[in-house]
Amino acid sequence: MTSADTRVPEPVVWAHGTLRILDQRLLPDTVAYEDQADVRSVAAAIRDLKVRGAPAIGIAAAYGLVLAAQQGEDLEAAAATLKAARPTAVNLAWAVDRVRAVAADPDAALNEAQSIHAEDRAICRAIGSAGRHLLRDGATVMTHCNAGALAVSELGTATAPMYLAHDAGVEFRVIANETRPVLQGARLTVWELDRAGIDVTLACDSAAGRLMAEGAVDLIIVGADRVTANGDVVNKIGTATLAILARHFGIPFYVACPSSTFDPDTPCGADVEIEERSGDEVRQWPGLEVAAHIPARNPAFDVTPHELVSAFITDRGLLEPPFQQTLTALRRTP
Ligand code: MRU
Repeated sequence: MTSADTRVPEPVVWAHGTLRILDQRLLPDTVAYEDQADVRSVAAAIRDLKVRGAPAIGIAAAYGLVLAAQQGEDLEAAAATLKAARPTAVNLAWAVDRVRAVAADPDAALNEAQSIHAEDRAICRAIGSAGRHLLRDGATVMTHCNAGALAVSELGTATAPMYLAHDAGVEFRVIANETRPVLQGARLTVWELDRAGIDVTLACDSAAGRLMAEGAVDLIIVGADRVTANGDVVNKIGTATLAILARHFGIPFYVACPSSTFDPDTPCGADVEIEERSGDEVRQWPGLEVAAHIPARNPAFDVTPHELVSAFITDRGLLEPPFQQTLTALRRTP
C-alpha cells in the first residue's frame, strides 16, 4: 500500500467533531459512510457488522463513548451498551475502559480515543515488521476472515506482513478463504489485497483441507479477537478447523494480533463467551433464501487450542511456545 489510490477507505473516521463509520456490509460494491448520532447508533453499527474486526470495533466504541461524554449521557450505561454490542473481542471492552477512565472530561475522552486510534497504526506496522520475514519468494499464505486494513487501520494485522513483504518486492501468493456466512474473506480481504496489487486467490472454506493436501499452502496467518492467558486463540468461525488441518499437514499456523488482544484475566478459550448470531446469516445467501424455516446455528467465533499455534506475530515481536512463559513475560513488560 504505497500509493493513496490503492488504500482501502478507513473503517472509522473522526473528522470535525463527527464520527463516521464505513458500512462494510455494502462492500465491495458501495463505499458509504454513515454519520453516528449517539452511543446507541454506534452500538448498533457494531452489532450489525457495519464496522467489524476486533481493533476497529474497539476504536469505534472509543469514539462512541466520546459522543456520550459530549452529550452528557450516563457514562456507565453508555459503556455497558457499547460492551454488550458484541461479547467476544476483548479489544472492545479494553478500548471502552480506557476512555471511560477519563470520560468525565469530554476533551480528555476525545484525546484518549484519538490516542487509541493513532497507536493502532504504529502497532500494525510493528506487527508487519515482526512477521514480514515469514513470507519468502514463491510462498503461498492462507488467511481467513478479514484481519486487514478494514478491520484495523492501514496495514491490518494478519495482512501487515503481507503488505510489507509486497512493498519489499517479495513474490508470494495469498489464498483467502471466503468465510461463510457473511463473506469477510470474499468481500473484504480479496478486495483490499487485490487493490494493493497482491496476488490473491479466493477459495471456499471447505476447500482448505484439499488445498493443504495438494501442497498449495506453505503457511497460515490469521487474526484474533481474543487470546486467553494460556494462549488459546478465539477468532472467526473456521479458524480452529484450519489450525487442526495445518497440524495434520505439517503447515505452520501463525496468529497476528496487537498486545491489546491478549486477555490475561481469562484463563482459557473455554471461558470466553462465543457470540451466536442470527440464523438468517446462514439461511440466506445474498439475495436468496436458501433454507427458509430451517433452524440454523451461527457461532461467529471458535477457539483454537494454543498447542496448535506456531507463534504469535505481535507488535512486541514474534512470541513462540511455551506460551505460558512468553505470554507471562509479555504481561510483565510495560
Ligand atoms: O465478525 P468479525 O468480522 O468482526 O470477525 C473478525 C475476525 O474474526 C478477525 O479475524 C479478528 O477480529 C481480527 S481483526 C484484526
